[in-house]
Amino acid sequence: MASNPADQNMPFEVLAYQSFVVGLKLHWTHALYDKVVEEAQELGLTDPKKIEKEMQGSTTYQYYGWLEHYLQQYKFMGRWGFMSHFEPHEGELEKILDKYAKIEADMLELDPDIKFPKYYTLGDFHQFPGGVWINNTGAHSYEQGSRTTMPTHSAHADLHTRYVRMIKNLCKPKKVLDEGCGFGKTTMSLKKEMPKADVVGVDLSEPCLKLAHRRAVEEKMPIKFVQGDIECMKFEDDSFDTIAGSMVLHEMPPRAIRNTFKEARRVLKKGGYYTHLDFYDPPGGDVGKFIYYGHAVRNREPYMITMDKMDLTAELEKAGFTDIRVEPFEEYDGALRKGEEIPEEWRFPWTVIIAKAA
Ligand SMILES: C[S@@+](CC[C@H](N)C(=O)[O-])C[C@H]1O[C@@H](n2cnc3c(N)ncnc32)[C@H](O)[C@@H]1O
Repeated sequence: MASNPADQNMPFEVLAYQSFVVGLKLHWTHALYDKVVEEAQELGLTDPKKIEKEMQGSTTYQYYGWLEHYLQQYKFMGRWGFMSHFEPHEGELEKILDKYAKIEADMLELDPDIKFPKYYTLGDFHQFPGGVWINNTGAHSYEQGSRTTMPTHSAHADLHTRYVRMIKNLCKPKKVLDEGCGFGKTTMSLKKEMPKADVVGVDLSEPCLKLAHRRAVEEKMPIKFVQGDIECMKFEDDSFDTIAGSMVLHEMPPRAIRNTFKEARRVLKKGGYYTHLDFYDPPGGDVGKFIYYGHAVRNREPYMITMDKMDLTAELEKAGFTDIRVEPFEEYDGALRKGEEIPEEWRFPWTVIIAKAA
């Protein structure tokens, strides 16, 4: 049985358990979702709240909701969950990441005095036990878990690569920032796709940044990782040609999103592109909203709904951006359906936000 937490080989039991969880998730993504959508559409109601109320009596919906909530927990907890796998090795993980932190040490800038915003530590986002900032077990489990967040699309270009290629088609930046970079998925894609650019990742989580740094060193990619709050960063005005971000905004309350937009405008050069890949404006009309808002509650995503209710275009304009586009993003080939049609399998309402610093 492999047990070296330093590499990404998982013991057979963990792999077997995780593939069971993914298999069940696929059943949920397709057959169960289809049935719930069908039942919800048959109601002929136009208010997501009313649809939710009626559907609570449906056994299919109860089963669907139960699996949505607990499969996410199963991934991380339980005997063969990722947290249980990494937790006994917390000290070893610390040593390994500290060893990497000494290599290319100037590329990792931690802030021992960092102050977390209140919303960040109040609860477990997407039911992730303890949050991604608490320890190395959290950062490593998050990295592993993200591989099965979208289990059906492994045959397509990775989402982060698709997003970065879209940015590459817009501009050729010399200096790029990835805000809320986590363990560096988009940051690494930025460097891979734009090798000549200086790439910087900023995040609140020390364990995630140390893991990101380790991965960048392993891949021999010069990327700078900085600990900071994207609502108020230490970078000078006009520091970057482009700012990117993925899956960050929906974890922030409206006030923090507004501050983040203003702060991005400050550190971005005039004419520079500001883009985010996130979840917003679900397709599928009221049934689509019922599915998405239900997900937010069952998966403990406290700010998905508040962000969905914001007018992001107006907020970006107020923050000093122009040429704003907020458009559905094709997570994988053929993912988008025409008009308002509801997707034929469960998926996040991927949206790309593109704006130019005025
Ligand atoms: C869902 S993760 C996405 C990580 C990464 N962008 C990706 O695509 O894999 C959200 C990240 O945003 C970070 N984050 C949340 N609020 C932040 C803030 N105010 N400043 C900096 N990072 C923040 C979290 O620490 C976490 O790493």
